[in-house]
Amino acid sequence: MLRNKLDALSAQALSEISQASTSEALELVRISYLGKKGSLSEVLKGLGEVPAAERPAIGALANESKRKIESALENQKSLLEEKELSQKLSKEKIDPTLPARSLHRGSLHPVTQVTRKLLQVFGRLGFEVTTGPEVETEFLNFEAVNIPKDHPARDMQDTFFMGPGVVLRTHTSAVQMRVLRSQSWPVRILCPGAVYRCDQDATHLPMFHQVEGLWVDQGVKMSDLKGTLEFFAKEVFGPGTKIRLRPSYFPFVEPGAEVDVSCFQCANGTSSGSGKKTGSCRICKDTGWLEILGAGMVHPRLFELAGKNYELPNSLGKKVTGFAFGMGVERIAMLLHQIPDLRLMTAGDTRFLGQF
Ligand code: DAH
Repeated sequence: MLRNKLDALSAQALSEISQASTSEALELVRISYLGKKGSLSEVLKGLGEVPAAERPAIGALANESKRKIESALENQKSLLEEKELSQKLSKEKIDPTLPARSLHRGSLHPVTQVTRKLLQVFGRLGFEVTTGPEVETEFLNFEAVNIPKDHPARDMQDTFFMGPGVVLRTHTSAVQMRVLRSQSWPVRILCPGAVYRCDQDATHLPMFHQVEGLWVDQGVKMSDLKGTLEFFAKEVFGPGTKIRLRPSYFPFVEPGAEVDVSCFQCANGTSSGSGKKTGSCRICKDTGWLEILGAGMVHPRLFELAGKNYELPNSLGKKVTGFAFGMGVERIAMLLHQIPDLRLMTAGDTRFLGQF
């Protein structure tokens, strides 16, 4: 009786196994026969009622049925897996011609870009790069460039003091004396770097960047300064750019000047700017000029402080003189890219920085 049941059951199982067309269906078949409450288990529960003499034979038969079912399951399983894999492969194609996902590339900060441009432009005129420390002596930052003790620039409100006699340099002019002391003429250096002032709003940062230039040689004249700056202006702001010098006062130069470049955006400037003739120019406010830097002829007092007696005519007859200039890098970057708020420069927002 039980023997027949077992035979029928295993025949039924094998047929269901061969008909299972997915792994999931096969698993259900497995559970329905071999699971704890599966048909085979149920049948085997009846083994107790079989006469003891027949039990070993029936037991062996039951094991045999179980083994057959298990091996059929195993076979069908690998068949189905193979089938499913090949179906998947034929459906899911890899298209090697699709564009790759683009990598996020970093970009150079506008301050870095402008600094590099300045170094390159002045480099073509023979200026070599020099650097100086950002933590500077009060002497080199002030006295050495002829800024006396009672000068308002020394006020605690403008200057970060690190300790007695030590400041964060407030301008790159602080390198002038270092260079004048350590080198004899000819000197033609450019010093880029960070400078610090106690100041912060939409147009001022407590830390910003300047580039300082110093040229000392025999017979250097104001016209050399002008020619040098004109070259720089055309290279940086466009070939049509003009410059103008307005007399101004800086303690370390005499005479001193503030230097403007013609607006490169609007027709009010004398450049071949692409802007319109009418309406207000957002860059120059219709003045046609942009203030860019300070400059002048090196004050004789600086040579004196450096211990150089350049005042006397040398053997070749021409006096050794010099000119200096200093400019703010952020300001130039803002003008060139029409950046509305200086604080964007330090915000580190890649959506802003990625545009340059
Ligand atoms: N040091 C000045 C400043 O920070 C800029 C400057 C003006 C530099 C005139 C110079 C110069 O070398 O000749 O505002």
